[in-house]
Amino acid sequence: MFYKLLFYLTLLIAVCEPSKSLNILVYSPVFGGSHSKFMGNIADALTEAGHNVTFLVPVADVTRRHEIGVKLTKNVIIVDKPNQDKTNIQNIDMDEVLRPLWTIQNRPVDFETCFVFFLEMMKSNCDDFTSNKEVFEELSRTKFDVAIAEPVSICGLGYFDALGINKTILASSTTHYEGVVRNSGEPVDMSYVPVHGAYFDEKMNIFQRYTNWAAAHVMAGNLEAMFDEEMERYRKNLGANIGHWRDLIPSASVFFTNANQYLDFPRPVIQKTVGIGGISVNLQKIKREKLPEEIGEILNKREYNMLISFGSMVKSSTMPENWRNSILETIKQFPNVTFIWKYESDDQKWAEGVENVHFLKWIPQTALLNDDRVTAFLTHCGLGSTNELAYLGKPAIVVPIFGDQGRNAPMLARHGGALVLQKFDLERKEILVNLVQKIMFDKSYAQKAKQLSQLLNSTPFSPKELVVKHTEFVGQFGPLTQLDPYIRHLNWFQRTFTDIYLLMILFYSLVVFVPLYVLRKLYRSLC
Ligand SMILES: *[C@@H]1O[C@H](CO)[C@@H](O)[C@H](O)[C@H]1NC(C)=O
Ligand SMILES: *[C@@H]1O[C@H](CO)[C@@H](O)[C@H](O)[C@H]1NC(C)=O
Ligand SMILES: *[C@@H]1O[C@H](CO)[C@@H](O)[C@H](O)[C@H]1NC(C)=O
Repeated sequence: MFYKLLFYLTLLIAVCEPSKSLNILVYSPVFGGSHSKFMGNIADALTEAGHNVTFLVPVADVTRRHEIGVKLTKNVIIVDKPNQDKTNIQNIDMDEVLRPLWTIQNRPVDFETCFVFFLEMMKSNCDDFTSNKEVFEELSRTKFDVAIAEPVSICGLGYFDALGINKTILASSTTHYEGVVRNSGEPVDMSYVPVHGAYFDEKMNIFQRYTNWAAAHVMAGNLEAMFDEEMERYRKNLGANIGHWRDLIPSASVFFTNANQYLDFPRPVIQKTVGIGGISVNLQKIKREKLPEEIGEILNKREYNMLISFGSMVKSSTMPENWRNSILETIKQFPNVTFIWKYESDDQKWAEGVENVHFLKWIPQTALLNDDRVTAFLTHCGLGSTNELAYLGKPAIVVPIFGDQGRNAPMLARHGGALVLQKFDLERKEILVNLVQKIMFDKSYAQKAKQLSQLLNSTPFSPKELVVKHTEFVGQFGPLTQLDPYIRHLNWFQRTFTDIYLLMILFYSLVVFVPLYVLRKLYRSLC
């Protein structure tokens, strides 16, 4: 009896334990909360599955040093900048730096301006990080099976190459990056879907298609120019023989993207692209979250509640005054609705006397979205919030402010549970009142949002499963060079069949026009 039990126990352990615990390196520079959170979730999913994950965090933006992104993963290596000037950091007022984003026009030329700041940050980050010999030596002592980086910077891939890791995985915290798509052999998809920073859905008119085309080129060009600069630095510090980024990108075995195929616009991808959108929404954890008592009391005051938040990048307190006032006027029109507004400043005189609005500097967003008393949400549609809305099934008014938000908003609205409001219309109260009326009291939006959430929560494979299974597969069989499409080696004429079209034109002109010409000559000479 005892031996039988022991036998089953051993069997159970053998079945439950992962076949082999992998040493996994995740490179995640600190520069933006949503990027860190995404990479952190990937790392934690792998840690939870029993792997030995090392989370490598160069501090690119010192003002965000606290936003690391991992919760379960214990091996975290934070790499500070050398000779960090502490006084200088405290003098940077990020709120003021980011304020212009509220009113940026989002034309292709504006992306260029926006990008300069980012380029400088990533350039100096790559230089500082790769010149840190201590960290490099420490990491050289471990044999890593798989390494994961986000191709929003190429420094990590160069670093992996220097460490001799060739089983690599790319993970984009956005739906995709144009600059990566066109270097990976994936079809360039600007005729299918709106690119980052586009302000329309996939049904584009000719002007929008032009904008989409131009924006894709501007953004891909920006990213490629930055990769060149970063490569110069990693080669300087780690060795001139480190791979070219144009080879390192396609040598990755899997491309994880923060897109969910059931939520995103359909687009052509190659087989190594795996959408893991929704990995950042941890439903079990959200279900366990408790709302603070005082927020519960606010929700009990009226029958309807609406949440307003523009995220953590651009703050409500720096929004143009006339937009803010128009939102307040709208709030006054709905006395039977309580509005909870994430607002970061103590100066609330401008809203004095309006009883149905509550300002909170921080809101437990997922707990609120999971609460039945909250009727709808008004949000900037960052990809994090978009996924939360979609998975938790709340109707929303979505107001994209900058970057990929302009694309995320119609992506969500396409499913019928959200309404898009262009940000410059925030100053027109009558439009906003109309949308609030619809989203709060027309039940069809809530119903569509619920349907989407049920669908997303029942997909054949969960985002976590996809991450763990694909990473383990790469650990066992990588690098998966057979997934690298040969089309990358063709030039533009070959890829687009232009060479064949030209030849056909030449051929038909020979067989049709030459005889015609000869006939005409003959006819003339005879008559
Ligand atoms: C886990 O990774 C760390 C590096 O962060 C390494 O020092 C350690 O030896 C690894 N553990 C095992 C069991 O391989
Ligand atoms: C990957 O690296 C291993 C040794 O680290 C080497 O044996 C193998 O050939 C490399 N594979 C490719 C495709 O470069
Ligand atoms: C709440 O107010 C809205 C708009 O003013 C109105 O359409 C709705 O019927 C009201 N609901 C209740 C229960 O009073």
